[in-house]
Amino acid sequence: MEKKKAIGIIGSPRKNGNTEFLTDRLLNLLKDSFETEKIFLKDYNISSCQECYYCMDHDECSIKDDMQILYPKLKESQLIILSSPIFMGGITSRMRAFMERTWHLRKGQLKDKTGTYIIVGRRNIGAGINEMEEYLSRLKVNKIAGVLGFGLRERDVSKDEEALKDLQKLSKQITSLYQQKEKLGQDMIIL
Ligand SMILES: Cc1cc2nc3c(=O)[nH]c(=O)nc-3n(C[C@H](O)[C@H](O)[C@H](O)COP(=O)(O)O)c2cc1C
Repeated sequence: MEKKKAIGIIGSPRKNGNTEFLTDRLLNLLKDSFETEKIFLKDYNISSCQECYYCMDHDECSIKDDMQILYPKLKESQLIILSSPIFMGGITSRMRAFMERTWHLRKGQLKDKTGTYIIVGRRNIGAGINEMEEYLSRLKVNKIAGVLGFGLRERDVSKDEEALKDLQKLSKQITSLYQQKEKLGQDMIIL
């Protein structure tokens, strides 16, 4: 059977940082069940929304930048993981720009997918969880509560035992959800 796809989208400007560490960990835990891909938004040229409202009448965004590479990846993935550090009490501007640019996908195009998130802050995560939850609700994906890690310097979060345990729980939750979905699909075929 073809493996499902899981995409981890990272909004940190820092490679080898805490957000990447936790995202790698989760993708690694999922690799037996999913074909995984990691996207660093920093590597893509992504403009913020220009508020032209083209997408009100069209099923696409008018801006032709690297989001055009990411849209198919989102559509092909069954599991979407959004990962961001907390900057000034919220997700990073890169993650925000990415979110804005998916406004045309809010009409249920992704409704069969599952979405979750990873957030890393030094101490005060402010609106981070709300922003992630709100976004996944807008996309109408099936939401699973994400994982919160604490750390400041590169890889500090590797010492956050609770975050590491929570990642394991999250991966089990995701895996069992997809096993149930597959079983349901097979039962439907037999019926
Ligand atoms: C501009 C800036 C603003 C930050 N604001 C916050 C904040 O409001 N709350 C917090 O807990 N950590 C804050 N931090 C700390 C980062 O969230 C923390 O270092 C995180 O581990 C970075 O993740 P990364 O290694 O994946 O980039 C801030 C860091 C920067 C650079």
